[in-house]
Amino acid sequence: MVTAQLNRLPKEYRQMTSNEKMARIQKTKAHFGSDLLIPGHHYQREDVIQFADFTGDSLQLAQMCEQNTASFIVFCGVHFMAETADMLTTSSQRVMLPDLQAGCSMADMASISQTNRAWEELTDLFGDTILPLTYVNSTAAIKAFCGRHGGACVTSSNAAQMIQWALTQKERLLFLPDQHLGRNTAAKLGISLREMAVWDPISHRLELEEGTSPDHIRVILWKGHCSVHEKFTVGQIQELREKEPQTQVIVHPECPYDVVQAADEAGSTHHIIETIKAAPPGTSWAVGTEMNLVKRLALTHSDKRIVSLNENMCPCLTMNRIDLEHLTWTLDLLREGEYQYEIKVKEEVAVEARLALERMLTHV
Ligand code: 13P
Ligand code: SF4
Repeated sequence: MVTAQLNRLPKEYRQMTSNEKMARIQKTKAHFGSDLLIPGHHYQREDVIQFADFTGDSLQLAQMCEQNTASFIVFCGVHFMAETADMLTTSSQRVMLPDLQAGCSMADMASISQTNRAWEELTDLFGDTILPLTYVNSTAAIKAFCGRHGGACVTSSNAAQMIQWALTQKERLLFLPDQHLGRNTAAKLGISLREMAVWDPISHRLELEEGTSPDHIRVILWKGHCSVHEKFTVGQIQELREKEPQTQVIVHPECPYDVVQAADEAGSTHHIIETIKAAPPGTSWAVGTEMNLVKRLALTHSDKRIVSLNENMCPCLTMNRIDLEHLTWTLDLLREGEYQYEIKVKEEVAVEARLALERMLTHV
């Protein structure tokens, strides 16, 4: 959860025409040139993404931030992405998020106090046999926890490599905070569901499959999820297969296990984009991921039929908080020398979180 002070968007930005906002953004971009970088995640709105200097999935955005030298980074994405950008850049580079309320409900599902308590109880049960891995969709404090305990970060595009690596380090792993990405990836690597358990941070209980003993457990999944991707169901796939057997289903691995099993293909946002780009004209796709990306795919590939797997799908509300008004406002203030919503991770946290990020970046 983001708790820093929130400033109100001045009324004038709501009253401004789109053309005026776009002209102001262009002016600021021209003013700063290569000293200003605007990275944009694939889930960003169309009117915002047009100003991105670089678009990508979480891994690509992290790598891009690590390599760039711009003094100012105005991150069009969500809070954990801006924190990662801050930790991977130098202390003189400034990272700003246009709206501080652009968080991630999944990242909020694992707090550091819950994680410390889980670790105490799990190490009581399993001894020193667990390595923690965290999806980058987590707070800097959780990343630091993983760094401190020899663990690493993962993204949706390298989770398989990182789980394989983790199991060479320790007998079992704790995967935070997305149970679905953890389960889907471990299953893809041949780990059976009976070798996985779920840690419930609310009841402080380890949930095992019936008839399994803790000795068999290789992967402990944190009971967290993405509220956007949980809206895709096997029922939607079955209905689609009956109506349109020619349509292929591609989903993000944050979708539940049975959905990923029923789909034709699963992968990160980058993988989804590349798969559809490479598909022959005339093919038909139902996509199980965030709506802004699905709409963009449909616009970009008018020679293919692209729809959402869930026709009542909404965009990710927190990603959507970054709008033209907030981007214009942030850039206007930047020109005046004001760093609104600057994201700065405390150095004592960043030092350990960087260990987890760097272990990931050196393995991919
Ligand atoms: P990607 O890394 O696949 O872009 O996913 C980020 C995300 O938040 C998905 O919900
Ligand atoms: Fe977080 Fe889900 Fe939104 Fe991704 S889509 S930013 S995981 S809430």
